[in-house]
Amino acid sequence: MQRLTLRTPDDWHLHFRDGDMLSETVPATARCFARAIVMPNLVPPVTNAQEALAYKSRIEAARPAGSQFQPLMTLYLTNETTVEDIRKAKSAGVTACKLYPAGATTNSDAAVKGITSLYPVFAEMAEQGMPLLIHGEVTESHIDIFDREKVFIDTHLIPIVNAFPQLKVVFEHITTADAAQFVTDASQNVAATITPQHLLLNRNDLLVGGVRPHNYCLPVLKRNTHQQALREAVATGSAKFFLGTDSAPHPRHKKENACGCAGCYSAWSAIELYAEVFEQLDALDKFEGFASEHGADFYELPRNEGTINLIREQWRVPDTVTLPDGTAMVPFFAGHTLNWKLEKSLVE
Ligand code: NCD
Ligand code: ZN
Repeated sequence: MQRLTLRTPDDWHLHFRDGDMLSETVPATARCFARAIVMPNLVPPVTNAQEALAYKSRIEAARPAGSQFQPLMTLYLTNETTVEDIRKAKSAGVTACKLYPAGATTNSDAAVKGITSLYPVFAEMAEQGMPLLIHGEVTESHIDIFDREKVFIDTHLIPIVNAFPQLKVVFEHITTADAAQFVTDASQNVAATITPQHLLLNRNDLLVGGVRPHNYCLPVLKRNTHQQALREAVATGSAKFFLGTDSAPHPRHKKENACGCAGCYSAWSAIELYAEVFEQLDALDKFEGFASEHGADFYELPRNEGTINLIREQWRVPDTVTLPDGTAMVPFFAGHTLNWKLEKSLVE
């Protein structure tokens, strides 16, 4: 096959950041995605409807001229979030809320300490038809980092899903066979996003031959058997799994650092990388469902009307991307040659 045509896809999990960074991140995503679920972990985080709407306007202002790209906004849940906050967010058009266990990842210090204290908030979200997006890792220091997703399923996710069968839950950026199995076995109200890095890489790609900070993200890459399970999950074509890049830009000096931060900036290559995965799996017939249909269906939003084309053409992911102020960033898969290329940007 030389050309792939698919319904215009959406990215159901990414980080745009704020300020000057938006002039880089918004066009990068708008080149091929019609919509994106925008993570709220700014500093300080987006915790109410008013802040979400203000952030939405800043994103819209950063769209290239003529772009129809639509940001879908989220609230960051804290121990102070109230039922009233949820009602106001819903009526302001906020799409979903994100649960970060405190300390789980970049900019999550403000997040939730006792998850059960948020149960009244989850009840309201179920009532309002607002999905709960979960970073599913425990943060207790005695739990091994490679086990944190599995322990989260057992200690928090199973109780949440059992207590709120009507609540739509997206288990974000899953990384383990345990998570894929949990989602497969759960009700229709439970789904998961999967990133390109967790489909393409395993922990050897992080640690063998030297530490590779640009492959470091959270949840951390797992052993190859888990990578294999994620690949098998998407190859089934199950509607419970959909595209969420978790594109998460950081300046180069913060990644290439003695205490390098977590996050892969994949927006410039994500759709092409996913195409590569589905081709490797001999499952290109399942690609459009994953990229362009399952997410919209789960969120009960219309599927996009237009299409994008990918052509079989080799290109090299650039070594760096430079922000207007001169800050360099290293995109995910920098220097690698990819086999699929977006034929025409949606924003040219
Ligand atoms: C994300 C970030 O940088 O904001 N980092 C990451 O490794 N994925 C946070 C997140 O999604 O967990
Ligand atoms: Zn994320």
